[in-house]
Amino acid sequence: MADLFSMKGRVVLLTGASRGLGRDMALTLAGAGATVLCAGRTVKELETTVRAITRKGGKAHVVPLDITDEAAVCQQVEAIVRRHRRIDVLINNAGILYRQDAVDTPTETFRKTIETDLVAQFVVAREVGRHMLKRKYGRIVNISSVMAILGRASVAGYVAAKHGVVGLTKTLAAELGPNITVNAIAPGYIRTEINVALQKNRDFSDMLERRTAASRWGKPEDLRGALLLLASDAGAYITGHTLVVDGGLTTILA
Ligand SMILES: NC(=O)c1ccc[n+]([C@@H]2O[C@H](COP(=O)([O-])OP(=O)(O)OC[C@H]3O[C@@H](n4cnc5c(N)ncnc54)[C@H](OP(=O)(O)O)[C@@H]3O)[C@@H](O)[C@H]2O)c1
Repeated sequence: MADLFSMKGRVVLLTGASRGLGRDMALTLAGAGATVLCAGRTVKELETTVRAITRKGGKAHVVPLDITDEAAVCQQVEAIVRRHRRIDVLINNAGILYRQDAVDTPTETFRKTIETDLVAQFVVAREVGRHMLKRKYGRIVNISSVMAILGRASVAGYVAAKHGVVGLTKTLAAELGPNITVNAIAPGYIRTEINVALQKNRDFSDMLERRTAASRWGKPEDLRGALLLLASDAGAYITGHTLVVDGGLTTILA
């Protein structure tokens, strides 16, 4: 059965691999046999991810990339295809978040969040999707959030973008089939740098533990099963789906 989830021989482009969920995803995919192309802006941190993989005998490379720079995305996708001959899997993970009440949020801040968390995901998926169509194979996994299911004060741009990712996922699934699947993962609250302020907030943590069936914050490794399912051949008949991995946060009333 392990073969079903194997990533052996697969070339994966993973954005936001420099830290947080992306670093754990990179290690997971490489551990399952993939060559992981670790994209992001902070080369030093990407190198740390790549070193962690190669130390364990895995294969990975640094891809310096700001996903909001459209020309750079087009050029990098081309360069990767030239060098590695293909991109089998795209994990659209990079994202940002600003916390500010909507009434105090400058349009520019809202726009920047949408640009990174939605528009850039579209641009990367479009460029990689074109290539996958030619090859008649592909897996795209977009990272959304439980903020695509729930609303929440002070993160208007993020909530709007993550809802958009779910719609984008369905549309791309419709267009890119039958040989390419496009799915999303909607993680709950997982301890990373993106939510340090909330981790330090005792009231928030108490609320989260009370209203989550799993009674705890998530850990990056909680996403590994969902990631491998949607990135491997195990998920061949799943497309257009958003898989919520949140310990029960959005499914129970507590
Ligand atoms: N942690 C959670 O609880 C949680 C829950 C739901 C969804 N998510 C989503 O999961 C994804 C990863 O989040 P995380 O928690 O791992 O956050 P994180 O620790 O802040 O990491 C964000 C990653 O995105 C990269 N990134 C940001 N802007 C970029 C850009 N313009 N170009 C290229 N890379 C960029 C960052 O790399 P550089 O800064 O080096 O470029 C970093 O690797 C995000 O999409 C986030 O919305 C997280």
